[in-house]
Amino acid sequence: MHPTPRKAHEKDIPAITTLWQETGLYRPYNPPEWDVRFALSDSNSTLLVWEDNNNIIIATVMIGHDGHRGWLYYLAVTPAHQKTGLGKRFVDAGEDWLRERGVWRMQLMVRSENSAMQDFYRHLGYRALDVTVMQKDIDTPPAERPE
Ligand SMILES: CC(C)(COP(=O)(O)OP(=O)(O)OC[C@H]1O[C@@H](n2cnc3c(N)ncnc32)[C@H](O)[C@@H]1OP(=O)(O)O)[C@@H](O)C(=O)NCCC(=O)NCCS
Repeated sequence: MHPTPRKAHEKDIPAITTLWQETGLYRPYNPPEWDVRFALSDSNSTLLVWEDNNNIIIATVMIGHDGHRGWLYYLAVTPAHQKTGLGKRFVDAGEDWLRERGVWRMQLMVRSENSAMQDFYRHLGYRALDVTVMQKDIDTPPAERPE
């Protein structure tokens, strides 16, 4: 196992797509290649990956900040490696990435019905906020844009 996560590259997109599909994070309206390129295109966000000894990507986390709060997305560990501490190490890696940039608070969104993931994050010290997240589509989704 490689000792530390590394920043993702364009060439990792197929492997990342597979991982997000097998962990239920893939959404057809959100093409992974678009999200990966967007995260890598700006210094305020990144995507970290972890490879096994055969250079297969087995975990990801996307982190970004808006100058006020840090956000975590796409935390995924391939099923065969879950429950071995990798998920926690990747949350830690995301927190480190933000701290290094002066960001002191990290947030994430979990669907209300996903109680297992809420328990996971609570176990890592996160608390639920009593807020209503509001959303509006202000442009065409990436998957529906012309090439
Ligand atoms: C969420 C996910 C990344 C967790 O990864 P993981 O490698 O299995 O988690 P870890 O082994 O690092 O677990 C860390 C700790 O959390 C605990 N934990 C793991 N899953 C838990 C759960 N569902 N509820 C409560 N605690 C949990 C572990 O027991 C461990 O505790 P310990 O440190 O006291 O030993 C993994 O389950 C996953 O990829 N899920 C599918 C994708 C997903 O839903 N991502 C989150 C989107 S919001």
